[in-house]
Formats: sequence, C-alpha cells, structure tokens
Amino acid sequence: MGIENLKTTLINPKTGATFTIKTPIIGASGTYGYVDEYEDFIDLNCLGAISTKGITLEKRPGNSGNRIFEVEGGMINRIGLENVGIQGFLMDKYPKLRQKKIDFLLNIAGSSTEDYERLAAIANEYEIKALEVNVSCPNVKQGCLEFGLNPNALFELTKKIRKNYDGFLIVKLSPNTQDIKPLATAVEQAGADCISAINTLRGLGVEVNKIGDKYIKKTVQGGLSGACIKPVALYMISQIKQVVKIPVIAMGGITKFQDLLEFMAVGADAFQIGTANFINPSICTNLAKELSEYIEKNGFKDFNEFKGALQND
Ligand SMILES: Cc1cc2nc3c(=O)[nH]c(=O)nc-3n(C[C@H](O)[C@H](O)[C@H](O)COP(=O)(O)O)c2cc1C
Repeated sequence: MGIENLKTTLINPKTGATFTIKTPIIGASGTYGYVDEYEDFIDLNCLGAISTKGITLEKRPGNSGNRIFEVEGGMINRIGLENVGIQGFLMDKYPKLRQKKIDFLLNIAGSSTEDYERLAAIANEYEIKALEVNVSCPNVKQGCLEFGLNPNALFELTKKIRKNYDGFLIVKLSPNTQDIKPLATAVEQAGADCISAINTLRGLGVEVNKIGDKYIKKTVQGGLSGACIKPVALYMISQIKQVVKIPVIAMGGITKFQDLLEFMAVGADAFQIGTANFINPSICTNLAKELSEYIEKNGFKDFNEFKGALQND
C-alpha cells in the first residue's frame, strides 16, 4: 500500500492560498538539515516537506562552546542560528532540494524588520513556494525585544513580509508568552496563510559534579524541545485554534503515532517532527506509514476525512 491517502492541502480560507504536501509529516527546522544527512534512513516519499535550518541574510557561525544539553525527555540547544546565509542556501542547498524534488519551507530569521523584508523579497524572486518565519529572534534595533512576543510588533512585521512575498506565508510562534492568542490573531490579521507552533521553550540545563572536594557546575541556557514540551505545545495549539481560521502546523514533542492523534484532536492540520529525529532518524517515515495504515484500516478515504471526523467529535 502507498501513502497516497496522506496528501493534504493547507488552505487560507480567506484568500484561497494553498500549499499542497504529499504527507502532513514535515521535518522541523534545525533538526533536519537539508535532507542529505537523513537520506539513508528515510523514504523521501513519506516526507511532506522539510523546514530548512533558519536562514539569515549573512551566514552565521553560531555559538561557540557547548551547544547541546540532554535533559530528561528532551534537550536544550543554544546553536545560535548557525547557517549558510541566504546566498549559500540559493547557491548550494536550493538546487539540491529541487533536483531531489523535495518540498520545503524556507525558514528565515532576522535581527531587524529590514532583514525579514529582504529575505522575503529574495524568496519571492526565487519563487519559493512556502516561507516559515521564525519570530523568536531579538529585534536588535529595538533593544532586544523578541518580535514574536509583542502582538503589535508581530502584526507590523508580518504585514511587511506579506507585502514582499506572494507565496504561502507561515509564521512560527514562540511559546514563551503569557498568552499566545493575541499573537495568533495578529499574524492572521496581517495576512499570514498559516501558523506553525511551537518553537522551543526557554530552559536551563544544570550539571553538578563533585571533583575531589570541589563542586563543579556546568550550565547551558537555551531552547528546550522534545517529548517533555508536548503538553505545553498541545495547550498552545488549542489556544491558537480558538482564535484563528488559518491552518496550523503543530510541533513540540511529537515522538510517536499517538501524539499525532492528540495534536489532530486539538486542531493540527499538519505536523513537524524535531528532536525525535535525533533519537530515531527514521521517525518521519515511520509516522507517515503508521498514519496511512491507520486511516485505511479505519475506513477513512484520506487524511482530511479522518481529521474531520476526529475534530468534529
Ligand atoms: C538543535 C535545534 C535547532 C533548531 N533550530 C531552529 C531554527 O533554526 N529555526 C526554527 O524556527 N526552529 C528551530 N528549532 C526548533 C524546532 O524547529 C521545533 O520548533 C522545536 O524543537 C519543537 O519541536 P520538537 O519538540 O519536535 O523538537 C530548533 C530545534 C533544535 C532542537
């Protein structure tokens, strides 16, 4: 049996803008590279798309020192947006993705509104089908305020990106907020076609070792991801779904088939898989196959019909 029953189209109900993917399973930004690293472990047909590592205008070396810290049920990372820069992406990574016919979301990040505007214009020029805007970055020009945590700033940013980009615009929300609803509303009102959520939660990893009669402390402060953040992600998705009509791509702690059902039940239209890829590089393929088989076994025509049934119950 194939996985044809997983084909799905994300639709902005207001404008009719669409993004069609072979399966609703997407490799999450920063955990999937540009597919090369995973090719030996996955059936590319099972992958709906990948979200690229966050791309900035200029290439970045990322943080030095310890960048990963394992915690119970997840990990903390402080990669610091190491990436090849937009020109590096266009010259090296983009041709390979096209050659392999892999759909992707170009995940972008910037430290000023102008950075995002320029990246959006470049994506438009290259007719990149889907853009995922990471707004969990500090706005350096406005005193390190995170774009994604202020509804007014997020509205203005999204509107400016929308003006420069005609493709399918996805804004990725941060969970590090008291109330995610005004942020979701701002993004929809500014013209985004879709929301993805959640990005990592702020966290601190601490390791204490006694060496001789001295206590040695190691700490890593960064973004928490993996199974341990799933309840937060489920809560955030359910909150977002209360206030917007545009589709939502859910992520945060998905590691097994049952998680897909839980996220669908609170309104997910597609999924991204992040940290779980580091534990099992075949996880995306396995999840797509399990979902496809489940849909067929339970007598549903396809993913959309199944989703409808689950969400209307
Ligand atoms: C090592 C690592 C690097 C990441 N880099 C990015 C990034 O560049 N841009 C982005 O939007 N999210 C990035 N993320 C966040 C993930 O895409 C995802 O939102 C988050 O990890 C939650 O999903 P998960 O629990 O399935 O990992 C990164 C996550 C990890 C673990």
